[in-house]
Formats: sequence, structure tokens, C-alpha cells
Amino acid sequence: MTKTKIAVFASGTGSNFESIANEIKAGTMDCEISMLVCDNPEAKVIAKATTFEIPTFVFNPKGYTNKELYETEIVEVLEQAEVEWIVLAGYMRLIGPTLLTEYNGRILNIHPSLLPAFPGKDAIGQALDAGVKVSGVTIHYVDEGMDTGEIIAQESLVLEDGEDRESLQERIQQMEHRLYPIVLQEVVQSFVNKEGKDIQ
Ligand code: GAR
Repeated sequence: MTKTKIAVFASGTGSNFESIANEIKAGTMDCEISMLVCDNPEAKVIAKATTFEIPTFVFNPKGYTNKELYETEIVEVLEQAEVEWIVLAGYMRLIGPTLLTEYNGRILNIHPSLLPAFPGKDAIGQALDAGVKVSGVTIHYVDEGMDTGEIIAQESLVLEDGEDRESLQERIQQMEHRLYPIVLQEVVQSFVNKEGKDIQ
């Protein structure tokens, strides 16, 4: 069966990138990561991609006068690598019209809260400041808004009394690492089945 080619976009540590790459290596997914796209030349995720021998496109947004210019370059790189899906995994930048038009309905994101609560940066800090009793993880399609696209999957957890940031972050990340590969596999597979891509 043909593997669906995905590009993972990340800006920082890349623990979600790593969990997806590990699942692919273990043979549980019908995908391959054809490219890591990273907007931060200092990010730890770049070394992780090298370990998995995954090609990288690293850029510095400050080197471009606007989003359209760097997104046009990203589209060229992705098309060259025949990438079909974009998987945002801690990519801390809004996706603009250039990428949205090219990959309409084929961009996913993971967010560490139960959206629509606490979109944007530091969702875990926002949830703790608000004193919520329940939080969790959301996986959704990406549109032009900030963490606003159609929700695909959510999983919740109950906060422990007095739970601190470190503990909540750890539990949410464990949830993300388990959930994202499963949901990604389901979404991509149902798309392939619908399109009849692999029916002989
Ligand atoms: C993840 O927790 C992800 O949900 C979050 O960034 C973290 C990246 O961690 N994304 C957002 O907040 C998007 N709005 P990682 O680099 O270790 O995968």
C-alpha cells in the first residue's frame, strides 16, 4: 500500500514529532514523514529529525518581508516532496492563505486544552490560571483562525487538587503522544478510502 506523505510543522522541542516518527517506525501507521518544516533554527526538533533521517526545511521568518513569501517557499518545498498532508505539532504560527489554499482540508493541529477554551499560547497556563477542574487535548482541522477549525477528537482529564504546571503539562503531553498518531492514522486512512486512492 502507498504511504501517505505528510509534513510535520514544529517550532520547539518536538516531542509530538518524535511520537509520530516512532509510531511510523514501529509500522502502526500508513504514513511517512517526508519533511519537517521548522520556523526556528534553534529548535530541538531539528536534531530529532536528523536522528530519524527525515529531511528538514528550516527557515527564519525574520528573513522574509511577509508570510506570503515564506509560505510560497514552503509550498514549493512540499510539492517537490509530494507532501499530501500538513500536521502541525507545536508550530506556533498562524497558517496563512497561501498554505491554506494549497492544503485545504488537509491540515491538522493539536492543542493542549479542550477547545474552544484557551486557544493560543500557553493553554496549560491559561487553564491553571482559570482554575478549571477538567482540561485535555484537542485535535482539529486548521482554518484561518487561532485554534478555531473543526474539532476531530478530544480527550479530557480531571485535574488533581493543587496540581502544578509541571504535572499537568506532563500528563497532557503523554495524552498528546498517544492520541495524535491514532487520530492522524484514522483521518488519513478514511480520506484514502473515500478517495479510493489505493483501490486497484
Ligand atoms: C504541544 O503541547 C502542542 O499541543 C502545543 O505545543 C506543544 C509542543 O510540544 N501546541 C500549541 O499550543 C498550539 N497552539 P512538542 O514540541 O514537544 O511537541
